[in-house]
Amino acid sequence: MSSTGRFWNVPLRHGQAALLAAFLAAGSLSLRAATPAETERKIDALLAKMTLQEKLGQMSQAVLRDLSDKTKEEIRQGRWGSLFGGGTPAEKAAAQRIAIRESRLGIPLIFGQDVIHGYTTTFPIPLGQSASWDPELVRQAAHIAARESSAGGIQWTFSPMMDIARDPRWGRIAEGFGEDPYVASQMAAAMVRGYQGDSLEAADSIAACAKHYVGYGATEGGRDYNTTWIPENLLRDVFLAPFQAVREAGVATYMSAFNNLNGVPASANEFTLRQVLRDEWKFDGFVVSDYTAIAELIPHGYAADAKSAAQKGIVAGVNMEMVSTTYWDNGKALIEGKQVDPKVVDQAVREILRIKFRLGLFDAKGQFSPAPAAASTADALETAKRLAAESLVLLKNQNRTLPLARSIGKVAVIGPLADSARDQLGTWAMGEPDTVRTPLAALRQALGENRVLFAPGLKNSRDNSHDGFAAAVKAARGADAVLLFLGEEASLSGEASARAYLDLPGAQEALVNEVSQAGKPVIAVVLAGRPLTFHNVAEKVNAILYAWHPGTMGGPAIANAILGDAVPSGKLPVTFPRTVGQVPIYYNHLNTGRPPADSGPEANNKFTSKYLDVSFTPEYPFGYGLSYTHFEYTSLRVSTPGMGLGGSLTISADVANTGAVEADEIVQLYTRQMTASLARPVRELKGFRRVHLKPGEKQSVEFALRGGDLAFHKGSQLVTEPGLFQVWIAPDSAAGTQGQFVVTP
Ligand code: BGC
Repeated sequence: MSSTGRFWNVPLRHGQAALLAAFLAAGSLSLRAATPAETERKIDALLAKMTLQEKLGQMSQAVLRDLSDKTKEEIRQGRWGSLFGGGTPAEKAAAQRIAIRESRLGIPLIFGQDVIHGYTTTFPIPLGQSASWDPELVRQAAHIAARESSAGGIQWTFSPMMDIARDPRWGRIAEGFGEDPYVASQMAAAMVRGYQGDSLEAADSIAACAKHYVGYGATEGGRDYNTTWIPENLLRDVFLAPFQAVREAGVATYMSAFNNLNGVPASANEFTLRQVLRDEWKFDGFVVSDYTAIAELIPHGYAADAKSAAQKGIVAGVNMEMVSTTYWDNGKALIEGKQVDPKVVDQAVREILRIKFRLGLFDAKGQFSPAPAAASTADALETAKRLAAESLVLLKNQNRTLPLARSIGKVAVIGPLADSARDQLGTWAMGEPDTVRTPLAALRQALGENRVLFAPGLKNSRDNSHDGFAAAVKAARGADAVLLFLGEEASLSGEASARAYLDLPGAQEALVNEVSQAGKPVIAVVLAGRPLTFHNVAEKVNAILYAWHPGTMGGPAIANAILGDAVPSGKLPVTFPRTVGQVPIYYNHLNTGRPPADSGPEANNKFTSKYLDVSFTPEYPFGYGLSYTHFEYTSLRVSTPGMGLGGSLTISADVANTGAVEADEIVQLYTRQMTASLARPVRELKGFRRVHLKPGEKQSVEFALRGGDLAFHKGSQLVTEPGLFQVWIAPDSAAGTQGQFVVTP
């Protein structure tokens, strides 16, 4: 790729000639990509030219609302290093032209956007993608999102979100990968690889942003933006793990979170931002704050005023301030007052410029010319359909209610989410609702209009009116099976969308009660951004398919599963509670001194760790999901009864398809260290694999385990301790075939 072509056809402004000379000296006119050392020399040359205000400008990011004369002049003056969240592709291209051609040093802007689960084509919400347990497919989807968004002038996405969440009241559980650090690490790393491709410089690669660093998901009471308290070993084993995995996958940027972590706001937290991210993980890209998170240091009670907030953010290592302007407003005074070392500012700017160089923004990628917005390509729609299909989790299937025979006469399609394009897209959706294929449309297409009796019953998921019930019951009576599309609308999950109740909102439960009286088989399809509690509904219906918010192609994916053209294979990436009162409930908890039992003599022991009014077990455990066939797990084998701390062994078991349908199964590996110097969880996921089995087929599924896979943190120290381990190969976190092995010193 030619690296400085743009200099030939634009007039050089004051200072640019000198810069060009420096570039030439640094050898940037070659056709090959710059070496890291060459890039650093280019950054040196730029830094030597930059005024303090230009440096503070690079450290500032604003929302691009419109390209007004004021914004144009600000770009010319180097006021912004990045713009995000708005502007048409043409406006972005025009803004970039001004930055490159009319600003003193020609430093390009970087355009950010929340491309969270797709751009033109909307894939399932991340929690749904996680339910696929298919990192390769997740990578492909992210790559499509990068291709579509880069064509629209976007170079940086604020994704993946990898906050571990054990509390479904928190609406942002929808945006992440669930409760497990291993699954989240796999998914987050796959997304980063998808966005960033083999090289950030490629035209269809965009920079990823690991967010929200860190601990945000442990928010007290599930309320958004709330405080978090996380001991260091838990922080490192659980909450930091996916952030470390994406560091290893080469993520370009991080976003510092809103929450206060152990008394220090995450956006001014020198421990996480400097010690862990820079000193331990050697991250050399840049950190952007979350939206106004630097100014929010004041209400956090951590900074007295904007000047102190800026000082704390800069010193802690937040390179770029999103939306609030404390850096710009106070940077000069802080340096003059010796409260911020100018070297710290230079380093912060260096890391921002480094990513701009790596992205090729100084080269071809900076010369973006807007293309007319294109519709989703066939491969994008196919990937969206596959991912939506693989994310479907079958939670109940009494007497093989599903799949419905194609020869079925009529189906009643009922419920507020059967034909709600906007809600099907979920939170943070960029795609247009009119591109969405809803379940109603897909079923009509598959069965023909006259075999589908549609009566929504409720206008939306929060509707409390029973006015539509009579028509719904009539449809149910006239049909051979009832498909009920329940759940929560898109706006009930995502940012600032915490719920204290996890029930189906509105009059949905009443609708189920009415409709089930028609005496027809009832299948509930639940579209939601979080685990909901729907115990009574589950008792009443014959089958339940959990579809999350499945995106553009959710309708065809669901219709295919209902009609048996595809077999559900998703597994829950998060525990489903029976009631909100059990929250937080997660599979990898400690055992306590009085573990409860649900069978055997201990089940009646009152003095164990349980509730008087509800079981201690979840409604559906982590990792759970049924199929149209049945899988049997037998004969766990360990290659050797013991291994040393640095050793390895293999664990295998037979998994057999004992049903009549060929299908995928997600086989899971769990371990438990029985005794250690810090008590270990009752189970920890260490591996998973998607296997495809024909009816009657049996496969030995094998996992390799190294001593290091069993490590945990004692404070900052990562240790593997000798001892006895139990091990399971399992269909979910509450079942499986079991064995044991020993780790010797
Ligand atoms: C959210 C981030 C998002 C940012 C920019 C914030 O409110 O917490 O996740 O990336 O806005 O839109």
